[in-house]
Amino acid sequence: MSTQATSNPAAATTTTPTRTATKRTILMCKPDFYTVSYRINPWMHPEDPTDTAKAVAQWQELHDVYQGLGFEIHLIDPIQGLPDMVYAANGGFVLDGVAYGAKFQYPERQPEGPAYMDWFRGAGLQVAEPVETNEGEGDFLLVGDVILAGTGFRSDSTSHEEIAKVYGRDVITLKLINPSFYHLDTAIAVLDPEPDADGRSNIAYLESAFDEPSLAILRERFPEAIIATEEDAAILGLNSYSDGYNVVIAARATTFAEQLRAKGYNPIGVDLSELLLGGGGVKCCTLDLHPVGTGNSAARS
Ligand code: ARG
Repeated sequence: MSTQATSNPAAATTTTPTRTATKRTILMCKPDFYTVSYRINPWMHPEDPTDTAKAVAQWQELHDVYQGLGFEIHLIDPIQGLPDMVYAANGGFVLDGVAYGAKFQYPERQPEGPAYMDWFRGAGLQVAEPVETNEGEGDFLLVGDVILAGTGFRSDSTSHEEIAKVYGRDVITLKLINPSFYHLDTAIAVLDPEPDADGRSNIAYLESAFDEPSLAILRERFPEAIIATEEDAAILGLNSYSDGYNVVIAARATTFAEQLRAKGYNPIGVDLSELLLGGGGVKCCTLDLHPVGTGNSAARS
C-alpha cells in the first residue's frame, strides 16, 4: 500500500514508526434483521425510517475489507427480533480461549447474551457466565496485557472486578461521562492489537468523553496517544478496528485518517452510515476473538 512511511523520502528523516499488520480473527453478525425500533442511546430515533438492505450492503463492504486484509472471519447467525445483534462487539469478551459472556443492561438486548454464549461454546471456547452487567468488547478493550474497562452508562464497575478474576489480568476502570459515547469503544480506538518491539501499544481517544481521574490515567499510560477531534468522534470515528497497520475507520473521519497516517498507520475508510443510526460503527460490528497461540504476525502488504 502506498502510504508506507518508508516510501516517502521526507519521512526518512522523521521518526514515523514502521507498523506491522497482524492476522486478526473476528466474529461478525450480518444485519439481516437490523432496524431501530427502540431507543437505548441518543443516536437511536425509532420514529425515523431505517433501510435494512442498505445496512446489509454497508456491513458487507466492511466484511469484504476485512477479508481483503486476510482476517479470519467467523459469523454468528442473526436472530429475528434482535436488531442490535449486528453489533457483535457487545456479544462478549474473548481472550486466552475463554469467553466471558455479556449481560446486557437493557431488556431489549438481553437475549443476545445467551445467543453469543451458545456460539462461543460451539466454537470450542470455555465460557465464563457473567454475574455482573457488562456489554463485552463494547466496554472492554485489550491493550497490551491490560484490559481497559469502561463504565458510566452500560457495564457496571462490578463487572471490572469480575473480568479481572476471569483472566487474571490488570483491569483499568475508565469512567465515561457523555451519553453519546456510552461504550468505551466509541471513545477509545486500540491502534496496536499486539505490543510493538518495545512492548508498547498505542490508542486514540476522545478527551471529553472521560472524567478527570480517567483522563489522568490515559495521559499517563498513553503519552503518545492520538487525541481525536470532536468532529471525528461525533460520527463514531474512533469506533475503528486496527490490525496494527491497517486501521478500518469511518470514511468521514478525515482528521483521524491524517493523524493515523502521520504515525505510520494505513487508514481505510468505510461508510456505515446506516448502522450509525443504531449508534454503532466499525468496531461495534467486530468482536476480536484473540485466538490463543497464533503468533499472529503477518507481513505488511
Ligand atoms: N444500539 C446499540 C446499543 O445501544 C449499539 C451498540 C454499539 N456497539 C458498540 N460496541 N459500541 O446497545
